[in-house]
Amino acid sequence: MNIGSISLQNKLLLAPMAGITDRPFRRLCRVFGASLAATEMTLAKPELWISGKTRRRLELKDELAPRTVQIAGADPTRMADAARHAVDLGAQIIDINMGCPARKVCRVAAGSALLGDERLAGRILTRVVEAVSVPVTLKMRTGLVPERKNADRIAGIAEAAGIQAITIHGRTRACGFQGRAEHQTTRKVKESVSIPVIANGDIDSPETAAAVLAETGADGLMIGRAACGKPWLFREIAHYLTHGTYPVPLSNREKLHYMLDHLCDIHAFYGEYSGVRVARKHIGWYLGRPHAQAVLLARIHQAERADIQLNLFTDLFQSIYSGRMAA
Ligand SMILES: Cc1cc2nc3c(=O)[nH]c(=O)nc-3n(C[C@H](O)[C@H](O)[C@H](O)COP(=O)(O)O)c2cc1C
Repeated sequence: MNIGSISLQNKLLLAPMAGITDRPFRRLCRVFGASLAATEMTLAKPELWISGKTRRRLELKDELAPRTVQIAGADPTRMADAARHAVDLGAQIIDINMGCPARKVCRVAAGSALLGDERLAGRILTRVVEAVSVPVTLKMRTGLVPERKNADRIAGIAEAAGIQAITIHGRTRACGFQGRAEHQTTRKVKESVSIPVIANGDIDSPETAAAVLAETGADGLMIGRAACGKPWLFREIAHYLTHGTYPVPLSNREKLHYMLDHLCDIHAFYGEYSGVRVARKHIGWYLGRPHAQAVLLARIHQAERADIQLNLFTDLFQSIYSGRMAA
């Protein structure tokens, strides 16, 4: 799949997820075969760009190419400025968020709220495309409400504005994360535009990936929540789509190696104080809910020091998988 002049290694993309897809997690998913991984959304508010949180989100040093920054906002000029700023910092692709239902974003009619204002959406897309020389992509939902899906019209506007690829999360804004994502709308969009279309929503296994590709004819697949605690899903899906079978599974020892590497990367990226806190949610996903070891899990979550957190995590992982740690 190509995004403008940039050619991707495969069809699999990591979905941007605020609070999750920071640089350490993006790097891990890229190692396992995600060909593109956008930053968490950055609001197009210049006053925020100097804040520690936004600066960290836009930290692209050491990021694997192609580097994609996602921006969100409702003002065409500010969006164009944000895109230029991101390119100055090293972005090679700009992704525009018209999918986020969060109130903080929609209050200013940004994110998925823009699907209800096609003219404004078009102006934003045009201004951002004109502002930068790198490819610009769009991520959106199927519409505001199930009765009035307009993804196909927005896709047409986007293509005319010069957008180079469109990702569709198969739910409306009103749906939030309820129910199952549907991909018929994505199929309709795929049939109506000639730029690449990427399907997104509830892809959580090699089988669902293959089914969504077959149903939509999409050029790519974007995976979010299912990769949390299971970043090797990209490797499984890539292998399945190529060979129709699962790859040799990673051993628990190999998984532990990657998990510890990830946690160390988090500690280094955020520093010890924030790092142990950010790491907790990933530890929770890696371990699942080990009821029998609830006390140990609580001790991990109380740890304030990186070395203690890593040791406790290793002990608990090994005790859960004891006897199954073959090399
Ligand atoms: C915690 C969380 C944060 C998210 N943040 C963003 C975001 O910053 N930008 C965006 O475009 N989508 C965001 N999304 C939506 C995802 O990118 C994706 O479209 C959605 O989760 C459906 O894909 P999935 O079923 O594979 O998770 C977020 C989703 C979750 C669960």
